[in-house]
Amino acid sequence: MTPAWDVVLETDRLVLRRFADTDADAALLVDLDSDPEVMRYIRPFAPYTADDYRDRIRTVYLAQYAAHPARGVFAAHEKAAGDFVGWFIFRTATEYRFAAEAGWTRPSDVELGYRLRRAAWGRGLATEGSKALVASAGADPEVTCVVSCALVPNRASTRVMEKCGLARVREVRLPGYDDPLVLYARCKPGYDPPGQATDQ
Ligand SMILES: CC(C)(COP(=O)(O)OP(=O)(O)OC[C@H]1O[C@@H](n2cnc3c(N)ncnc32)[C@H](O)[C@@H]1OP(=O)(O)O)[C@@H](O)C(=O)NCCC(=O)NCCS
Repeated sequence: MTPAWDVVLETDRLVLRRFADTDADAALLVDLDSDPEVMRYIRPFAPYTADDYRDRIRTVYLAQYAAHPARGVFAAHEKAAGDFVGWFIFRTATEYRFAAEAGWTRPSDVELGYRLRRAAWGRGLATEGSKALVASAGADPEVTCVVSCALVPNRASTRVMEKCGLARVREVRLPGYDDPLVLYARCKPGYDPPGQATDQ
């Protein structure tokens, strides 16, 4: 039996839910990553297997939900037919593995991210889900900035950030990546975007 969805957020067309520690959810993640076009700007190393993802759900995703129910990686489904379209991430910015390189040192900043199946692209779904998450941060007095990043050539990704009101901060170089990473942020009044260069 499919467990009931553990819903975090709804938009006009999307339901965002917490992942469950199931083979079915691990399989959704592996399938999403199996499209080379989806992974084009993501990471230059070996993909996760179903076992890897099952372990990651258990040790990382569920731990993030336990620490804060509105932080972590959330499965996105289209309301109309229930299809899995991908995921959104909304986690404490310091948890990004290149947080040091990005200058994301403030635990009250939250990182926005997304990865959608190719069949779902070009219909405004990433923007729709992201805007709802950015709005939730605006309503949360604990959050100081929403931050995001993408490799510079990933214009679809940076365009989503711009449409959600995030502004470009600067570019940084990452070990193992040919293209630079561009940092974006949208901060509450009185807070500076993290990662700004101090030598300019
Ligand atoms: C990035 C991603 C989530 C965008 O999803 P989406 O639902 O298609 O995004 P939206 O439809 O909300 O908006 C995309 C915007 O980028 C624009 N865009 C798409 N491809 C583009 C390109 N190659 N160059 C410039 N703009 C582009 C679209 O026209 C749209 O902007 P507009 O509304 O002003 O026309 C999706 O492409 C994806 O999952 N990519 C693979 C994973 C990934 O790269 N994730 C981000 C890692 S940082």
